[in-house]
Amino acid sequence: MSSSLQYVARSRIHYYMSPQSSTLQPICLITGASSGIGAALAHEFMNHGHELVLTARRAPELNALADALAAKGHARPRVIAADLETAEGVERLATALQEAGLEVSILVNNAGFGLLGDVAQLDRGQQLAIVDLNNRALTDLTLRFIPSVTRHKGGILNVASIAGFMPGPGMAVYHASKAYVVSLTEALHEELKAEGVKICALCPGPVPTEFNDRAGMPDDYLPQVLARSASRVAREGYEGFMTGHRIVVPGGPNRIATLLPRLLPRGLVLAYLNWRWSKARRRG
Ligand SMILES: NC(=O)c1ccc[n+]([C@@H]2O[C@H](COP(=O)([O-])OP(=O)(O)OC[C@H]3O[C@@H](n4cnc5c(N)ncnc54)[C@H](OP(=O)(O)O)[C@@H]3O)[C@@H](O)[C@H]2O)c1
Repeated sequence: MSSSLQYVARSRIHYYMSPQSSTLQPICLITGASSGIGAALAHEFMNHGHELVLTARRAPELNALADALAAKGHARPRVIAADLETAEGVERLATALQEAGLEVSILVNNAGFGLLGDVAQLDRGQQLAIVDLNNRALTDLTLRFIPSVTRHKGGILNVASIAGFMPGPGMAVYHASKAYVVSLTEALHEELKAEGVKICALCPGPVPTEFNDRAGMPDDYLPQVLARSASRVAREGYEGFMTGHRIVVPGGPNRIATLLPRLLPRGLVLAYLNWRWSKARRRG
């Protein structure tokens, strides 16, 4: 008998069971589901019949979304409130899933934020919190759940940004954090392709959500020709993810915005982006 299999005999039924097989219920975990793109992704995944667990810090918003989805006739998603900026918050989320008998087959790493301003002027703790949420928590959840995602031949959808394709004076830590997400996602896409696991980076341009408020960014800071609604971003993200795309950039102008920095000299791109930021800074 293969050492990787356990032979199980019950009355007259004989079958092999992998020790890795599990009685835990597979679910799709969406982080940052209390607003914006995460909430839109929750609608999208639910419309396609996935069992959901929603997480973010604000339980009332998560519960309101879960109720709204249930009212549409879907199974009510479970809600687990957690602050993912802390290692303990991520640990508590993982423990809560385990205690509820759930395991992640699809992970949507969407929670994230950015801050507009010069690195030297912005608060150091807040800037480190961007890295804690956008990168540390995303990586921690990814590494924790790769085994169950792989076992279920599920996937990981990481919400990055077009910011991940260019350095960003005026939002330096945010751009760098999203470049990390794009890079990690592309590498994992290749590593896990042979296992039948989908790994995708969703890279939106500007989306009208609570993001701008938290970033301290005026609504007209980015060209409106790039803007897309959260529901459209979620729809294109879901379709691209499920069809095995490595990168999804919603909207033609945003695709051009991610292509140009790869074609033009880096110094030129940086000089242009710094000029834009200097102009905005002067305007206040
Ligand atoms: N809006 C845009 O223009 C845009 C463009 C490109 C990419 N993105 C990316 O899209 C993702 C979603 O952003 P959004 O536009 O939908 O903004 P949003 O409306 O502000 O949503 C951010 C979500 O992240 C959650 N979150 C924030 N801090 C958290 C923490 N410490 N622990 C757990 N959850 C936390 C928020 O919930 P709580 O406050 O309840 O915790 C909220 O659900 C982000 O990764 C963002 O970088 C946004």
